[in-house]
Amino acid sequence: MDREALQERYGIIGESAAIKQVVDKIMQVSGTDITVLLQGESGVGKDVTARAIHSLSKRTRNDLVIVNCGAIPEGIIESELFGHEKGSFTGAHEARKGYFEKADGGTIFLDEIGDTPKNIQVKLLRVLESGEFFRVGSSKMYTADVRVIAATNKDLWELVQQGKFREDLYYRLDTVKIKLPPLRDRQDDIIPIFRKFVTEFSSKYDSVFQGFSDEAKELLVSYRWPGNIRELRNVAEQLVVLEKSQFIDKDTLQKYLKGRQHLGSADNLPVLSRNDYEEEESSGFDGHSGADMGIIYRALLEMQGDISDLKKMLAKFVYSTFSDKELKALPSTMPRDIDPNDISSHIYRDSQSSKESLGISTPADHHHEKDDDDVESFFAGKEIPSIEEAEKFLIEQALKRYEGNRRKASEALGVSERTLYRKLDQYDLQ
Ligand SMILES: Nc1ncnc2c1ncn2[C@@H]1O[C@H](COP(=O)(O)OP(=O)(O)OP(=O)(O)O)[C@@H](O)[C@H]1O
Ligand SMILES: [Mg+2]
Repeated sequence: MDREALQERYGIIGESAAIKQVVDKIMQVSGTDITVLLQGESGVGKDVTARAIHSLSKRTRNDLVIVNCGAIPEGIIESELFGHEKGSFTGAHEARKGYFEKADGGTIFLDEIGDTPKNIQVKLLRVLESGEFFRVGSSKMYTADVRVIAATNKDLWELVQQGKFREDLYYRLDTVKIKLPPLRDRQDDIIPIFRKFVTEFSSKYDSVFQGFSDEAKELLVSYRWPGNIRELRNVAEQLVVLEKSQFIDKDTLQKYLKGRQHLGSADNLPVLSRNDYEEEESSGFDGHSGADMGIIYRALLEMQGDISDLKKMLAKFVYSTFSDKELKALPSTMPRDIDPNDISSHIYRDSQSSKESLGISTPADHHHEKDDDDVESFFAGKEIPSIEEAEKFLIEQALKRYEGNRRKASEALGVSERTLYRKLDQYDLQ
């Protein structure tokens, strides 16, 4: 099968060099039994990739067992993975096979592997190395012929450094890694993928998509897509449903993109007029169907997460880096809609005790004229920056403060040096 045929068959859209590399790697590894680690942000296509690898392999006639390691409660994960014997714990009325036995002859997809408890990690390592495992409550050794595909949206090496992930398991998994790039790093793919979703949803909702203006198209491509392809899919669905048969201009599109606008304002919520629903079936909830409410709820949740992360990040940075004088200079340019109980409200206070109560260590307070200017220009004209802008800014400031010493800068930022290198690369910083 060539690359185009594979992409067609598994719905993997994209012509970018990055996606071609991913597809080439899928083709290289699928004929083997080698363990594969899929790494990428949420919504980049890890599931799709795992399914393609299994389906192209000789194991395709047997099962692909998908396990979300982050979603199984810690108390039962061992028996879920490896099974248990009758009577091995309260409620174990019958012996039961675990996922590894169910996947015998097939593939197991261990999603969110970074969230696996450490005592289970050692057992995973054994299965990976020898195919051997024990059911809970049994001393009999079982073996299963299982191909393992693991996925993570975390930096596993960072988890190793934090003591949350076993180093030996990390090396075992890291041999063949497929890195799925975020959508913003493959902008050429955005329009073709969007088109696919629009076609799909137009037929599902029996709606006609009228296209969009050049400006809207530019925005679609330049937007940073924090939720990647899943977010693009959601936006396509919302446009098809909520902007039924409308020509989409930039302002309309903007309402559906959450990352770029002023976080914390209600502007980035889709505006839903009652007219949109008049012909639609009512679910008895104020005339809005469950699906509509779902869309709104999701938008709210996503927005809330971004804001609180950003507030915490800013508060931590500001408090650990700025002098009291600099702190006093901030309020005129900082957002004012902050909940007084929220951590970032401490930005407005300048007592050492509030720094301590936040558990933030403060370096000796030097005054930096230059930094003042940077802070002013960074916030100028904006209510609040995007998370990425803020992150980039923080990194630049830390490097400047420590005269390019990356070890000190990474310590000040509270990240590993490796993460700092990755970020420097990501943001093209020298
Ligand atoms: N290259 C692609 N072309 C078209 N659609 C894609 C592509 N990659 C992923 N998708 C679609 O994007 C959505 C998200 O993909 P998927 O579930 O595989 O992401 P994921 O990386 O597993 O996300 P998560 O980390 O949240 O589990 C799915 O609807 C999938 O079909
Ligand atoms: Mg997934």
